[in-house]
Amino acid sequence: MALKDTIQELMGQVQTLSASNAEELEALRIKYLSKKGEITALFNEFRLVPNDQKRELGQLLNQLRQEAENRINELREQFEAKQAESDRLDLTRTPDPIALGTRHPLSLVREEIEDIFSRIGFTIAQGPEVEDDKHVYGMLNFAPEHPARDMQDTFFVEKEMGVQKPTDVLLRSHTSSVQTRVMTSQKPPIRVLCPGRVYRNEAISARAHCFFHQVEGLYVDKNVSFADLREALLYFSKEMFGADTKIRLRPSYFPFTEPSAEMDISCNICGGKGCSFCKGTGWVEILGCGMVDPNVLEACGIDSKVYSGYAFGMGVERITNLKYRVKDLRLFSENDVRFLRQFESC
Ligand code: PHE
Repeated sequence: MALKDTIQELMGQVQTLSASNAEELEALRIKYLSKKGEITALFNEFRLVPNDQKRELGQLLNQLRQEAENRINELREQFEAKQAESDRLDLTRTPDPIALGTRHPLSLVREEIEDIFSRIGFTIAQGPEVEDDKHVYGMLNFAPEHPARDMQDTFFVEKEMGVQKPTDVLLRSHTSSVQTRVMTSQKPPIRVLCPGRVYRNEAISARAHCFFHQVEGLYVDKNVSFADLREALLYFSKEMFGADTKIRLRPSYFPFTEPSAEMDISCNICGGKGCSFCKGTGWVEILGCGMVDPNVLEACGIDSKVYSGYAFGMGVERITNLKYRVKDLRLFSENDVRFLRQFESC
């Protein structure tokens, strides 16, 4: 075959070269362009071409070599790009550590409270958040005209959608409603802890919210005394805030307890010396408590001449503020992960 025809045939081959991997590509390079390759061989033949044809054939031959080089380089670049992509995917790398969720600070503290009281025999009792007037107020010795029932404090649930009228269905404003449910369904001795969410119609601010959480305790048995209440609360305070914690009971009033008290603990931030948190007093209030009013026992079908009891109730947010110094109540319900992540190790 004349040299010109061979060049043209090879040109056809070279333009459609394809390879499925780097080894095949190298084989093609060797086949056409190496020292013993087919195109190189044509250059040897070219030396014998008569002078008058050298110009034309020389050009064609150079074009062929150029074409072959271009095609092989093009294929090589494709392989290199693919390789770079798979290099980026390191299959031997250990996976990124999975970001664990965190416990909510209110859950952490609620569980700690539950844990402390479970060690002295309290079990958990729960009741509905949508309640009736009887269980939230009536059986708890609230006078019919007591202001807590007022629309300002209590969220009433409308029976008929869109009809604005007060009903006796409401969102519980304290977990004391669980007391009445437990006392009407169980016989003494009763020793329960009632954790749960409560609702009050208050403007939302750093210090107040329309819902928050309480843990209430109730102990009913023969010969339960105020001294028993005090001992249980002292034990709780030391477990929760440290062995040096002191408590102080101040007389107070709740419709469902008599006598009633509010309890302060020695400020766990300044140790009782006085700081801005305790407003210089060295004490911070953490709960309300008292002896269950005999009227309440009787309303629940418990003989108040045989049995007596104590009750206490605390806000979980308040205890959490003291433990973790959360200054704004709203943080608890905003689900901001920057806040929640701070409890990762707790
Ligand atoms: N229920 C009261 C409140 O919501 C707290 C309390 C509970 C007080 C039990 C005394 C006894 O403020």
